[in-house]
Amino acid sequence: MEINDELQDAMNDQLNFELYSGYIYLSMAAYFEDKNLSGMAHWMKIQAGEEYQHAMRFWDHIADRGGRVILKEIKAPDKEWESPLEAFKTAYKHEKLVTDRIFKIGKLAEKLEDKSAIPMLNWFYNEQIEEEEQTKRIALLLKEIGDQKSALFMLDTKLGQREK
Ligand code: FEO
Repeated sequence: MEINDELQDAMNDQLNFELYSGYIYLSMAAYFEDKNLSGMAHWMKIQAGEEYQHAMRFWDHIADRGGRVILKEIKAPDKEWESPLEAFKTAYKHEKLVTDRIFKIGKLAEKLEDKSAIPMLNWFYNEQIEEEEQTKRIALLLKEIGDQKSALFMLDTKLGQREK
C-alpha cells in the first residue's frame, strides 16, 4: 500500500526530529563528560543510538511503501545545562514533546485509515511510555540527591551500566 503524501511528509519530519533528539542527547553526553560524569554520558550516548534506530524505523516505513525519504537540516542542540537535574528534566520534557508529535501522526494515520502505519505507530506509543518513564525517574532521583556528591556519583556509576 503506497504511502499517502501528507503522511510521508509527517514521517519525514519525525525522522528528522528523532535525529535531532539523538543530537540533543549527544550534546548532553558531551556536557556530562565535561562534568566528569562518565556514567551519565554513557547513558546519553546509548539513548542517542536509540534515537537513530527510531529515525530508521520511519525511514524503513516510508521506503518500504514506495515513498521518498528526505533528509533535512538538523538544528544545533543546546550545549549547556544548569545541572544534571536540569539536563534530565529537559530530556523528560523533550520526550513528552516526541509523544505528542507521534500522537499527531497517529491521528493522521487513523484519518487516512492507514492500516499499515497504525501498528507501526503503536510500537512508538509503547516506546514513548518507556522513554518518558526513564527520564522522569532519573530526574526525580537527581532532585532527591540535591547537593550530595557521593549519591550523585553512585547514580552516575549505575547509569554507566546501561546496556541498551
Ligand atoms: Fe525517539 Fe526518545 O523518542
